[in-house]
Amino acid sequence: MERKMERNAPALPQSLALPEAVKLVEVGPRDGLQNEARHVSAAVKIELVDRLSAAGFANIEAASFVSPKWVPQMADGAEVMGAIARRAGTVYSALTPNMKGFEAALAAEAGEVVIFGAASEAFSQRNINCSVAESIARFEPVAAAAKAAGLRLRASISCALGCPYEGDIALEKVADVVARMRDLGCDEIDIADTIGVGTPLRTQAVMEAAASVFPRERLAGHFHDTYGQALPNILASLQAGIRIFHASVAGLGGCPYAKGASGNVATEDLLYMLHGMGIHTGVDLDQVIQAGAFISEAIGRPYGSRVGKALLERGRRQECV
Ligand code: HMG
Ligand code: MG
Repeated sequence: MERKMERNAPALPQSLALPEAVKLVEVGPRDGLQNEARHVSAAVKIELVDRLSAAGFANIEAASFVSPKWVPQMADGAEVMGAIARRAGTVYSALTPNMKGFEAALAAEAGEVVIFGAASEAFSQRNINCSVAESIARFEPVAAAAKAAGLRLRASISCALGCPYEGDIALEKVADVVARMRDLGCDEIDIADTIGVGTPLRTQAVMEAAASVFPRERLAGHFHDTYGQALPNILASLQAGIRIFHASVAGLGGCPYAKGASGNVATEDLLYMLHGMGIHTGVDLDQVIQAGAFISEAIGRPYGSRVGKALLERGRRQECV
């Protein structure tokens, strides 16, 4: 179904040089589903993760060990992590805001734990009920325990391109939080546009600010698509040397503490763009489309990926010929 395209052979100016391959983190089972008002059963979540594993992702965010009072949809993380068919070569990540979450993630055999802070004080308070400085103090034992257990440690920094409560966020603030996460020993740090307000040149400036204090190759872009800027921002990030991106199957999601924010960039749309540019992902687009159609039907939502819809429609037309 997927159209194969040749990699652009001619040399590009250095500023436009594109990589041979990128790492994708599929966040649909966590970021995609956490905001669903209607209960999604553990069985559906497990089948979604299994379908995404089969599609070939190197990393899937499969669960979130947060307070069930704050995010009821994620309360069954242990059940989900206990039943998924783990694929060799896929790291299964879980969000862990504190030691209670870490202990649950460890028991559930997560391969990577994710501490999540913010570049905005107001968002930090709304999302995790503490200041940025308090959050770092809370993450310290989590980071130490992750290292002691031999787990990968990732940090996500919300509102790096704008905050629903504070508006613009200074580059220095982003760099400061990245540096604090670096000092905790993070293997990878996500620069998150929680409400999707960023545009490409600002994205490049934010990535440069982050890369001034943390290795560029271990930074990731996490773009919500509220204003349709996620793909342009990813292209701008690629041109700034970023090589890890997050995406959500069927474009599901949002953050319960960022009202009005829509889902992440749809994985299907990102795969189409990357494969169209000859960039290897190791992920099978057709299988992601099947997973996207499955989860959309299971939760009663229209399928939210343009590429997925177009290719499914093309497949149906070809069947009729
Ligand atoms: P708190 O109320 O300040 O915590 O919440 P607390 O330590 O005072 O505990 C209060 C109660 O929560 C206690 O229970 C604890 O046991 C329980 P009680 O005695 O009242 O029955 N509790 C927990 N239960 C299960 N697992 C835990 C846990 N911790 C405490 N880990 C807390 C602080 C951080 C827990 C809370 O604010 C919370 O859970 N927030 C999570 C919010 C969230 O999940 N947001 C969405 C994910 S972040 C996101 O989507 C952004 C991202 O995608 C990037 C981007 O786009 O920006 C990553
Ligand atoms: Mg997010």
